[in-house]
Amino acid sequence: MSRVRCLLHGLDFRAIFFLFLIFPAGIFAIYCHGQKITYFLRPLWQSPPKPFIPITHYYNENVSMPTLCKLHGWGVREFPRRVYDAVLFSNEIDMLTIRWKELYPYITRFVLLESNSTFTALPKPLNFKVNREKFKFIEPRLSYGEIGGRFRKGENPFVEEAYQRLALDQLLRVAGIEDDDLLIMSDVDEIPSRHTIDLLRWCDDIPDVLHLELRNYLYSFEFQLSHKSWRASIHRYQRGKTKYAHYRQTDYLLSDSGWHCSFCFRYISDFIFKMKAYSHTDRVRFSHFLSPKRIQDIICKGADLYDMLPEEYTFKDIIGRMGPIPHSFSAVHLPSYLLENADQYKYLLPGNCLRERN
Ligand SMILES: *[C@@H]1O[C@H](CO)[C@@H](O)[C@H](O)[C@H]1NC(C)=O
Ligand SMILES: *[C@@H]1O[C@H](CO)[C@@H](O)[C@H](O)[C@H]1NC(C)=O
Repeated sequence: MSRVRCLLHGLDFRAIFFLFLIFPAGIFAIYCHGQKITYFLRPLWQSPPKPFIPITHYYNENVSMPTLCKLHGWGVREFPRRVYDAVLFSNEIDMLTIRWKELYPYITRFVLLESNSTFTALPKPLNFKVNREKFKFIEPRLSYGEIGGRFRKGENPFVEEAYQRLALDQLLRVAGIEDDDLLIMSDVDEIPSRHTIDLLRWCDDIPDVLHLELRNYLYSFEFQLSHKSWRASIHRYQRGKTKYAHYRQTDYLLSDSGWHCSFCFRYISDFIFKMKAYSHTDRVRFSHFLSPKRIQDIICKGADLYDMLPEEYTFKDIIGRMGPIPHSFSAVHLPSYLLENADQYKYLLPGNCLRERN
């Protein structure tokens, strides 16, 4: 009889232990790490996107254009196509300078649109307008546009983004784009290399739409994540058909076509602004994520600002890319303007992770 009572007692104790300790601890762990758990299990709930069809990219500065075009299976033209570079601008002054200096020789018109609203409906200054005198070198070829934000609180940020991209289509027409001109669609920090654009403007028979595979960097050119940035694209413009977009539009991907430097900012305050203004604001789960000291430590380590797992589709890739990005000591084949002005852009080069506080 007393043994039965003792057993009941024991069960009660275990039930109480479970209810008041293990259960809340479990809920708390899921609250803190739920995103990590779902990301780790991604291979179970999401299949990878359809693979791209890679196009081998041939280049050496001493090989002539007719030979390069022929290597790609394309003919060479008698005169090059006109090229439009169109971006939505937020606050990336340094990246914009490096981009435009890289592309300068081959761009017919630089088209830039900026809004006084972030995608997440926060007001922001017209940073390009304020800094316009820094871009005198392209002024005669600039088509600049401003657009007022809609400031709808609580709306999905992708709606504001789509609204701004639509306005960019209109600005391109005002800037005089014509059929078969080349149009680069990419974010400011997705920089095609100069020789890639030269190839595509000189060769005939290139695909109508082509994604550009860019070397993918984080924080600076010290941390190369992968070769796998693919969102940038280049189009042979067709009136009424070509729409400015930043998602997948074709299966063709031209290899090794430039650089994508995400979160490559000079000031810690720019990181904080970007984390708040970014389309995925749900990633800032805790306010201490925005602490300047934490951000600085993470930049120097090559770790993840949002403390998330890599977005991969197989367990092998997730595990292979977990942990900080290894440091690189190569500054070979970077944009020429960056190397020619290295003292001005030190923070973008290996070995200089400390940012200025402003
Ligand atoms: C490459 O071309 C330049 C100028 O045309 C020439 O001076 C140089 O010798 C060439 N280099 C090689 C390795 O062929
Ligand atoms: C944003 O710009 C629009 C149009 O220029 C203007 O009407 C609006 O007052 C501005 N809003 C803010 C918050 O600056």
